[in-house]
Amino acid sequence: MGEDQLTRGPEASLNVSKEDAMKVVVAVASKYGATLEIAEAIGGVLREQGIEVDVAAIDRVSELNAYDAVVTGSAVYAGHWLKGAKEFLEANAGTLRALPTWLFSSGPIGDPPKPKEDPVDAAPLIEIIAARDHQVFGGKLDKSRLNFGERALVTALRAPEGDYRDWDEIRTWALSIADALKANPDPNARV
Ligand SMILES: Cc1cc2nc3c(=O)[nH]c(=O)nc-3n(C[C@H](O)[C@H](O)[C@H](O)COP(=O)(O)O)c2cc1C
Repeated sequence: MGEDQLTRGPEASLNVSKEDAMKVVVAVASKYGATLEIAEAIGGVLREQGIEVDVAAIDRVSELNAYDAVVTGSAVYAGHWLKGAKEFLEANAGTLRALPTWLFSSGPIGDPPKPKEDPVDAAPLIEIIAARDHQVFGGKLDKSRLNFGERALVTALRAPEGDYRDWDEIRTWALSIADALKANPDPNARV
């Protein structure tokens, strides 16, 4: 895969230079892949809107200054963002505050989706990076992929298996990001 290619797998190390076209990174923390697929869908919509996009595992993103905007997401486990995502935002808060940023969480399972509450980390993370928006999307639960402790927990909670991600909702949110960036790429503007 060439360095100039727009789509990079989560395994790629990102260290790109700033060019003229608007460039966005969708950086995601995902344990079993469901949240990564949401990130890829968001990236696809932004790309359709003429924006250059890297979709990457959050621990592979090294050069935030190469981007004009950042979308960050994490799966939610036991009410919290994955540790790597939280640490990434805290470590890069200064840089992220100077960029337009959006956050998303993915986790709630079932119909209606539960839990209803935002992840514990959402409010403080929105605050420290001055995110323009935070969105919670449904998650996906496949018990066959869980470790023993996780399976015991979701069984005790009677969490239903299934894929509760709403792709229309995800695409609509991504489109709102593209629209906001095109309308006002100023990092200090709030939508
Ligand atoms: C042990 C366990 C705990 C979970 N806890 C929460 C939670 O507290 N809140 C929530 O919204 N989702 C919770 N979930 C659902 C996951 O966030 C959901 O399955 C998500 O889609 C996983 O994303 P990933 O495949 O990217 O890791 C939990 C799932 C497991 C297996």
